[in-house]
Amino acid sequence: ISEPLVLGIETSCDETGVGIVRGSTLLANVIASSMEEHARFGGVVPEIAARAHLEAMTPAITAALAEAGVTLQDLDAIAVTSGPGLAGALMVGVGAAKALSVALDTPLYAVNHLVGHVGADVLDGPLAASPTDGPLEYPTIALLVSGGHTSLLLVRDLVSDVELLGETIDDAAGEAFDKVARLLGLPYPGGPEIDRAAVGGDPKAIRFPRGLTQQKDAAKHRYDFSFSGLKTAVARYTEQCTDAGVPIPIADVAASFREAVADVLLTKAIAACRDHDVPRLLLGGGVVANARIRQLAEERCAAAGIELRIPPLSLCTDNGAMIAALGAQLIMAGHEPSGLAFGADSTLSV
Ligand code: KG4
Ligand code: ZN
Repeated sequence: ISEPLVLGIETSCDETGVGIVRGSTLLANVIASSMEEHARFGGVVPEIAARAHLEAMTPAITAALAEAGVTLQDLDAIAVTSGPGLAGALMVGVGAAKALSVALDTPLYAVNHLVGHVGADVLDGPLAASPTDGPLEYPTIALLVSGGHTSLLLVRDLVSDVELLGETIDDAAGEAFDKVARLLGLPYPGGPEIDRAAVGGDPKAIRFPRGLTQQKDAAKHRYDFSFSGLKTAVARYTEQCTDAGVPIPIADVAASFREAVADVLLTKAIAACRDHDVPRLLLGGGVVANARIRQLAEERCAAAGIELRIPPLSLCTDNGAMIAALGAQLIMAGHEPSGLAFGADSTLSV
């Protein structure tokens, strides 16, 4: 099939995503999020996420079909995220995808969530409009940053050659935003709150640590990230303010924290591009919404002669369209379907 019609299902975290593509053309991207249900816990609660997926799945599929103007019988294939992610959450998507595959006698493709984020960049059409459109070129370095992951990938081919260069050894970057927001008394999710709080703050006011950027980490952790020390440094700083009886300078802390995260992310991503002689960098994940990270990415890429690609935000955050897109790429490259004998793999590697 030259332009397969594929429905993609994504349930690795708190977004129930159902997307439909024809080849690389985006036809529908429906997302139901349980984020508000997690807000009072300050982070995603796996059991709540899984239950929310179960409730949202059928309506999301129905809405996606309507948006694309197609029926279930029209589909050439189903694609689903089989990992990595929250096990219980993944199981809901995998179960739904298997049920559809059996009922419709339609091939099923199990795909990796992280590779899916890269797949978002192949999408085109009016719904996928982005300033950096045009086909994904190889090789590409991908920096994926969300509440669940912080990874650097070397993508030589989307469907056959993706290498994990490094990832966080503790918290994900988005998790750090959420935890630091909490320290500052800001609500969940913390990323947008810190972005807002940082306006007018001085990013140089406090020199927070840049995890794993020291010389001694160069060999073993060149492309890895660590954000727990940064979070602890912010906690210590706010404690010192409280002990001294002075108000926490929230704008300065937010700006300085955000600067530390952006600096580390871009330093490592640019190093990966340089080391591997790759002239392009793709960003993905919800943290890409961060104003300073986007700005610094533009500055550093321009200075290094690296092409920066950022899909529209609706395709950066977790979604089903990117999973459908990757499924379609697999089909067009002649890959065999996955069959039904796979499960949810919370630690699936790329
Ligand atoms: O990709 P995403 O929507 O969901 C998953 O993590 O699966 O990412 C959500 C994460 C949250 O941790 C949130 O705080 C962070 O992305 N985030 C941001 C911003 N907007 C969302 N982090 C920094 N700056 C933002 N503007
Ligand atoms: Zn993700």
